[in-house]
Amino acid sequence: MQDRQAIRYISHAEHETLALGETLASYLVPPMTVALFGPLGSGKTVFVRGIARGLGIARVRSPSFLLMLKYEGREHALYHLDLYRLEQWEELVHLGVLEVFEYGLVAVEWADRILDLLPPDRIEVHLAFQNQGRKISLLGTGPRSGQIVQALVDRINPRLQSRNP
Ligand SMILES: Nc1ncnc2c1ncn2[C@@H]1O[C@H](COP(=O)(O)OP(=O)(O)OP(=O)(O)O)[C@@H](O)[C@H]1O
Ligand SMILES: [Mg+2]
Repeated sequence: MQDRQAIRYISHAEHETLALGETLASYLVPPMTVALFGPLGSGKTVFVRGIARGLGIARVRSPSFLLMLKYEGREHALYHLDLYRLEQWEELVHLGVLEVFEYGLVAVEWADRILDLLPPDRIEVHLAFQNQGRKISLLGTGPRSGQIVQALVDRINPRLQSRNP
């Protein structure tokens, strides 16, 4: 059963969050959506910068005012959404965002704003403050995302695998 695989990770510094995003990127094949959840300053953009670095994208801007930015990577493009300022989900229809979910690699900050519109098979990244660091949970919610999270589990901490029934 590959569905709903989960991994929990403690990041002690920004570079560790970047590295986790970069490692995740090596498993991403379109279409796939990475949905990021967590409060202001919890590290969502840092994680997206890690994904971008893994895809060969040097610079990530903040799409807050544009809602969506596209970066060209070595093999794949990355669509970066930041929904903090989203007022109505209909805005996303005008931007063509719903189609992007069907064919692209997409990273969505403030994904809770469009929970019902997210692809059912997605990678969820939940970030929370923990002391000086961050607690990061990754969850695969379907067969494809579950396989990716399982691959990460195998790579990052093989001992977790045996504890996963
Ligand atoms: N372990 C860590 N992982 C990620 N960021 C960290 C960590 N420790 C400290 N930071 C700092 O926390 C901040 C995270 O900022 P970031 O812009 O990624 O947050 P965000 O969740 O995208 O916020 P927003 O909701 O405003 O978009 C950065 O300044 C980063 O340097
Ligand atoms: Mg951000």
